[in-house]
Parts: sequence; structure tokens; C-alpha cells
Amino acid sequence: MSKVKTRFVCQECGAVSPKWLGKCLECGAWNTMVEEIEVKNEQHVKTLDIGTSEKPRKLKDVVFEQEERYHTGMPELDIVLGGGIVRGSLILVGGDPGIGKSTLLLQVANHLSETHKRVLYVSGEESIRQTKLRAQRLNVEAEELYIVAENSIERIKAHIDQVKPDVLIVDSIQTVYTSDVTSAPGSVSQVREATNQFMNLAKKNGICTFLVGHVTKTGAIAGPRVLEHMVDTVLYFEGEGHNMFRIIRAVKNRFGSTNEIGIFEMTGGGLKEVENPSQIFLSNSPSNEPGSVVVPTVEGTRTVLVEMQCLASQTSFQMPRRMAIGVDYNKLVLLTAVLEKKVGMSLGGQDIYLNVVGGMRIDEPAADLALIISIASSYRDIKISEELIVFGEVGLTGEIRGVNQAQQRVNEASKMGFKKALMPHSNLEGLVKPKGFQVVGMKHIQDVFRLLF
Ligand code: TYD
Ligand code: MG
Repeated sequence: MSKVKTRFVCQECGAVSPKWLGKCLECGAWNTMVEEIEVKNEQHVKTLDIGTSEKPRKLKDVVFEQEERYHTGMPELDIVLGGGIVRGSLILVGGDPGIGKSTLLLQVANHLSETHKRVLYVSGEESIRQTKLRAQRLNVEAEELYIVAENSIERIKAHIDQVKPDVLIVDSIQTVYTSDVTSAPGSVSQVREATNQFMNLAKKNGICTFLVGHVTKTGAIAGPRVLEHMVDTVLYFEGEGHNMFRIIRAVKNRFGSTNEIGIFEMTGGGLKEVENPSQIFLSNSPSNEPGSVVVPTVEGTRTVLVEMQCLASQTSFQMPRRMAIGVDYNKLVLLTAVLEKKVGMSLGGQDIYLNVVGGMRIDEPAADLALIISIASSYRDIKISEELIVFGEVGLTGEIRGVNQAQQRVNEASKMGFKKALMPHSNLEGLVKPKGFQVVGMKHIQDVFRLLF
């Protein structure tokens, strides 16, 4: 018995409504409801079945076995994954088109197969010829790497039965479809159903599965964000197309911590790991110009020194312009107001452009102080010593608040040849100063201004 149903699904968040709506009631997005005709086979139960017929046991009696992990051949990626790929896990790799998802996965496939894992690469977007071309560029010559150009899940399943892979790569999830659902490939119900089926396969047969997902303009994985909570791990590719650096970030990980990032460089021979990120992000910095200041930021377990640049110039508009690249725009506006009110800097007639060099994005409050100093340095046209790093959170009253991992930040700065840190006073307690390194504790931004400007 099958039943035909029509419904409307939000392409942003996957919310379902029986009738069309201009605005999604779940996520508030406009014009995202799309009609879908769904034929449901009622015998077909579409839920994940990972249970066995076991009885409930006491948690403390459960013997913990270290999960089996495969190494990707890229320590940076292993860190992001929490120590390698867990057997039977489902990993979603998201990112803009052309950012390097297929390249990364082909490189990973090559390494896994060289280490005696059997890999099946399902290409739903490119022909085998195109993939072969890329493989040649990347020197992929592994023995146990199988490839097929296919879109139908039923046929992919048949290939899996035949090849019996340890690792499955589906590039991309938006191009596969199942005949259980009649809506078009890439639609919410198709993507959700496809993911469900791959999840069942992964859990039942212990196949590590990578799903490639495209990202919409708003930054969500195209169509359903529902996909994100179905999978075990979500990795996002960040970076500007024109910039050679790529950052892979775990936004969700059931087998490790999130916040970890891996930094890669896109080269002629594929993605290469960047071993010393601080050096890369600082390498092209001009010898200290006004507006430039270095800040140590913490990403997961790693500290990276990045340069923040500001250009403040007399506006020729009615409304002065504010632009922020790599930091939150609202943060820029807010800290500009703090500068005006607390140190009397009149920025009302200034256009302010702020940029984090190298395509990095900083979201942590520890960068507040750097932002303030960068604006002031450009506005007053006063250089900041190139031996100095700054960090600290700035409150609305201009007070400087302590941040986490102060020691780690100071150590990294000292390692990279910096000699001095301006930092929150409250972080000085218990801080071990590296040799030849000076730390100055600050309580209020007025102290900072007395010292620097
Ligand atoms: P690709 O992996 O196809 O991106 P995605 O799968 O995310 O859409 O990467 C495409 C870009 O990477 C393309 O612009 C060319 C560039 N590239 C290199 O610079 N070096 C290489 O070795 C390869 C294979 C690609
Ligand atoms: Mg691709």
C-alpha cells in the first residue's frame, strides 16, 4: 500500500508544513518553502536501527573498547576528527563549490587505500574521466581504490555489496536519490532519506562514510540543516576562493572535541598541511605600518598568531562606512562606540575598514583589545611595536577582562620571536613568563592608551 502526500518543506531548516508559507515558521527564512510530492512505502521503516536485542545493562558494567580509528595520512585532519576516522562513522564535509572537498577526499582515499583499506568513491557530480584527471594531478595510484559514477542509492548499495569497502565516499549527497521518495535529487526529503540510508549502512557494516555537502549562500549545508544532526561529525571548509589557505573546522564531532581546526594550503599537487600556521599568517605582514597589530588566537588546542589590520580614513559619505572581514561586524561597531565614549576618540567622521590577514576568522573575545588598538593606531597614525602582541576582552565600560589560555598565547608569541605582551591584568596571576619576554597587565583601555598613544 502506498500513499501519495503533498507537503511543503523549508530548504533551509527542513521544517515541514501542510500548506505553503511565505516565511518559514521554524527558522524565519523567507521564500524557502518548496512543494514536495512524497510517495511513502508504508512497509519501509525509515528509522535508524542500531540496537540489538540486548537487555538494558548497567552503564558501569559496560566494558569500554577503544574505538578503531583509521588515519587519514594528514595529521592536521586527524586532529580535527579527534584522532582519526572512527570505524562506522558518518562524516559530513561541507563547503563552497571549488574549495577543495573532492581534492581532500581523493587524497584521503588514496592514503587509506595505501594503508590497506578498501575505498569506494562514488562520484555523482563528475565523470570518471574528470576524477581520473584529478587523481593524476594528485599522484593517486593506490591499489584498492574503486570509483564509480552513480546517483541511484539502490545501485550504490549493489556496488557496496560487491566491493565491500571499508570506506565509502559519496560526492555529493545532493546528487544521489532513492526511488523510495519521488521528489527531485537535492530536495530536502531526498537528501534526508539518502543520509538515513547511508547511516544505516555505515552503522550496520562498519563502513566509514564521507558525505560531501554543498553550502548555500547563507552558509548552511544546502537544503536541510537536519542533515547536520543525523551525522556523527560535521566538517566545514573555510577560506576565500582566491586565498590559498583552507581551514577545516569540526562544528560537530561525536568522537572528539569541536573547535579544532586544521590548516591547509591548496597547491598544484593538492592540499598540503601547514605545519606552522603562525608563520604563514604573519609571513607577508609589512614591517609595522599604523593599523597593524598581532593577536594570538586560540582555536581548539592550537594557538595561532594572526595580524589584524585597520584603515581609518576621513569619510566622504553622509554615513561613515564600517567594514569587517574576519571579525564580527557588530563587534566592530560596538568597540568603536567604546572607543568614542571611553577615550574620547571621535570616529563619527571616519570610515573604518578592518581585516584579519590570511583569510582567518576570529570569533573569540580575546581579540577585542587588538581590534581597539588597531583602530586607534590607524586613526592616530601611530605604529605599534613589531615586537608586541596584544590580547584581552574589552567590556562596554572599557574594562579589560581576562581570557582563557593566556599562558598558551604568551608561549606561542615568545616562540615566534615576539618580546612583549599587553594583556589582561587578571591573567598575570600564575603566569610563567618565557625567558626574555615582558608582560604588561592592563585593567582598562585608558591604561592602554596612556602606554601606547
Ligand atoms: P575541488 O576539490 O574540485 O572542489 P570542490 O569539490 O569543493 O568543489 O577543488 C577545485 C579547485 O581546487 C579548483 O579550483 C582547482 C584547485 N586545485 C588545485 O589548486 N590543485 C590541485 O591539485 C587540485 C586537484 C585542484
Ligand atoms: Mg567536488
